[in-house]
Amino acid sequence: MTRKLFIKTFGCQMNVYDSDRMADVLAPLDFTPVQTPEDADLVILNTCHIREKAAEKVYSDLGRLRAKQDERRLAGKGEMMIAVAGCVAQAEGREILRRAPYVNFVFGPQTYHRLPDLVREADLAGADKQSLNRVETDFPAEAKFDFLPEVSPSGPSAFLAVQEGCDKFCSFCVVPYTRGSEFSRPTADVIKEARILVAQGTREITLLGQNVNAYHGADGKGREWGLGRLIMGLAEIENLDRIRYTTSHPGDMDDALFAAHGEVPQLMPFLHLPVQSGSDRVLAAMNRRYTVDEYLRIVERLRKMRPDIVLASDFIVGYPGETQADFAATLKLVETVGYAQAYSFKYSARPGTPAAEMPDQVDGAIADARLAELQTMLNNQQTTFNRETVGRVLPVLFDRPGRHEGQIGGRSPFMQAVHVEADESLIGQIADVDIEICRAYSLAGRLIDGDESGAQNGIRRVCA
Ligand code: 5AD
Ligand code: SF4
Repeated sequence: MTRKLFIKTFGCQMNVYDSDRMADVLAPLDFTPVQTPEDADLVILNTCHIREKAAEKVYSDLGRLRAKQDERRLAGKGEMMIAVAGCVAQAEGREILRRAPYVNFVFGPQTYHRLPDLVREADLAGADKQSLNRVETDFPAEAKFDFLPEVSPSGPSAFLAVQEGCDKFCSFCVVPYTRGSEFSRPTADVIKEARILVAQGTREITLLGQNVNAYHGADGKGREWGLGRLIMGLAEIENLDRIRYTTSHPGDMDDALFAAHGEVPQLMPFLHLPVQSGSDRVLAAMNRRYTVDEYLRIVERLRKMRPDIVLASDFIVGYPGETQADFAATLKLVETVGYAQAYSFKYSARPGTPAAEMPDQVDGAIADARLAELQTMLNNQQTTFNRETVGRVLPVLFDRPGRHEGQIGGRSPFMQAVHVEADESLIGQIADVDIEICRAYSLAGRLIDGDESGAQNGIRRVCA
């Protein structure tokens, strides 16, 4: 009998990828994904532990699910299984079962290939959680990727995990603890998965990793490929029109990767390269291992290789010991670089990380004020950049229906959301759009007739 599977994904794109793979793993057990938890036979919360707020959301969601689980049992509709996956599962393990004993099982990001076994055991245990009580959060010796089935169709734009984990140990970050040490998938596996996706209609692939430019995959001939070489290899796949990667560390930008930005037209002119702070003192305390000057030289080199490239970044304000002068240095860096997009966060002390133990934690209200100031500046930069694209013709990869009837949506090379009035048959294709309107979070324009891929590699300015 077909059962309904609802997965709620929190956090980063890697979790989005993992959730899709969980659905792939469960498909042979006759689970079909559904869009709401109502009537679901299995609900998986794929969680994020990066900041306290994200982690706490899980418990409020669990409370609501418990009510649904009870209702369903009382109505005689059988068991709704609840599972917690992802980074909170990894970090808190058994503590989740203690706080929420109605959870059926808990599993970390490295063990979801064992999901079928967990589900079978939960089936056998039924409502008797105590006889199950399973927590799968080890970092198993077997490589998860070797046990996953072939990817299912992912649409015009797909994620492909090439690297996982992180050895950088930035002092604020839980990732090295929740995702484990760095692991790169062999190049042949990555290229095979990319070919399958493209054969299924994918036109854009975003290579994913917690620290994706630290990629060093075995090529099967005793050598390793870095990310730059991998991108050059992927660029040979016919009909793979766009390649992106995220998220990267400035310290891992090597010559081959710079070269890829210059030589591979499919590599899109948008790079998320988190800097975190514009103060050398704070960067050192964060264990980021680069200075502001080194970061600026990387940006300069990228722009030399690919003059139309735009940058995105992450920022943390209120890091322990951050002074007003340190914060002013961050604002100055933002002004110097000019970002097309950015995410900024108030520092959140995470258990087990070195920064959480530091004595001079910044007052919450001061951090709030700094965050507001930084966000205003970043929002202004984003709006300025978006306005500058009005009047240009941009190639847009359409990947979804729009919010209104007769409208479709897609992305520009610079990751901007773009809407046009057009037939849904264009979804999955790249077409030139004359950008006419800049809205708060998206652009709107008009389709230009003619050759579908004409502006893919050269952006024309149609008016001043
Ligand atoms: N507090 C606030 N922000 C954090 N990030 C990571 N750890 C923390 C933390 N403890 C931010 C960083 C990172 C992004 C994914 O989340 O900016 O790049
Ligand atoms: Fe976390 Fe990124 Fe630093 Fe790794 S490089 S520890 S994932 S912030």
